[in-house]
Amino acid sequence: MYSSPLDGDVCFFPDIDFAVAPVPQLYELVATLRESGQRVAPIVYGQRRSWLILGFSDVSSAFLHEKSFPSADFHERISVPIFGRVLNAMRGAEHLSYRRAIEPLFSAAAVETFRELVLVPLAHELFDELRGTDSCDLRAHYAQRYTFRVISTLIGVPVQDERTVMSLLSSINGVFFGRTEEAAQASAKLTKYLMPLIEERRRHPCEDLLSALTGLTVDGHPLSNEEILIFVRFLYPVGADSTSAQIVNLLYHVAADAELRNLLIQRPAIRPKAIAESLRHSGAIAFVPRYSAGGGTLAGVEIPPNSPLLYGIGPAAHDPAVNPDPEEFRLHRENPRHLAFGLGLHVCLGRHLATAELQTSLDVILDRMADLRLATPAQRMTGTLLRTLPSLSVEYELLSVN
Ligand code: HEM
Repeated sequence: MYSSPLDGDVCFFPDIDFAVAPVPQLYELVATLRESGQRVAPIVYGQRRSWLILGFSDVSSAFLHEKSFPSADFHERISVPIFGRVLNAMRGAEHLSYRRAIEPLFSAAAVETFRELVLVPLAHELFDELRGTDSCDLRAHYAQRYTFRVISTLIGVPVQDERTVMSLLSSINGVFFGRTEEAAQASAKLTKYLMPLIEERRRHPCEDLLSALTGLTVDGHPLSNEEILIFVRFLYPVGADSTSAQIVNLLYHVAADAELRNLLIQRPAIRPKAIAESLRHSGAIAFVPRYSAGGGTLAGVEIPPNSPLLYGIGPAAHDPAVNPDPEEFRLHRENPRHLAFGLGLHVCLGRHLATAELQTSLDVILDRMADLRLATPAQRMTGTLLRTLPSLSVEYELLSVN
């Protein structure tokens, strides 16, 4: 199990590059590492040796030790060249000031208003389009389009521009897979598209996020067009794909398990438990990539300077020390522990929005799709950065809204 990969560094599972391999067996591999006493294990990720942190308590400490292992060490190298100085790339007082200013726009109360006005009608709109059908791929037809449209509506991007923006964003996402040049070109095009929208909102503010951002001040300074652009351009990659994958993972359990589905139909009040358990058992993000410029000690392991790190939020949720029988999806798990939205200063800004999208999707699917079931045999989720299913084919009887 322990031998040398290409660059001569010693790693576990040297034949698996966890950045690209599907690894359906991810949590079995993690269990073998744990059983052999590993807490921080070197593995191959993007052809480099990266240090994977495995346990719930060790991953939590790493998130909380922002001083020794700052989020900015990774994002300055990867995100800033494409997106500019995004929140994840900020440090200390600068991060705190921006976060304080922007946080109220994503608070639980702000999301609650948005839920009634936008999230629920948008979900129904996509289900209405299925009229006359009795099967579909919920990932392509619903989850991807829904989460993308939510961000567009939040920002104020017109629906007719959806396809153009979507294709630019898919090129931008290439940055996480090494396609830097293509990503940079797409990012420049997106800037050209968004800048006139921002200028328009300065002249004629309305109810959307762009307008709210034009009125925002950070430490007494109004946000510049460039700062607004950086923030909204980053919302799609950070907010749409992860939420779409999480909706797929949640709905998979609902479609695969008739007993669970019936319980959720009979007792709507327990639906948040299903959402929490899907975030724990089938979190859409298994590894959060970080980087340590200065090195340090994690769980007793010496991390050399300039080392890629992987915060194993998926492995942490499958840590039997905090979640007994972690491979079982248990609706009534007592105190399910997960770090799906991170922890500490950089905890997910969009966690209330994402949870509301999950709740809305669950409510609408249970209302609108009677006799929901998988159209294909049960599948396993794959991937690490995003861990989900390539498609979610289901059959149903579509109901109209009362
Ligand atoms: C199920 C869906 C989502 C998951 C699993 C998720 C997960 C995460 C995680 C793990 C982090 C911390 C990353 C780190 O510490 O390096 C994070 C940060 C962040 N997320 Fe999310 N996220 C989701 C949805 C969203 C949505 C819908 C938005 C916004 C519309 C959003 C915006 C952000 C932002 C801006 C940050 C950076 C915060 C900062 O650096 O202060 N996320 N997210």
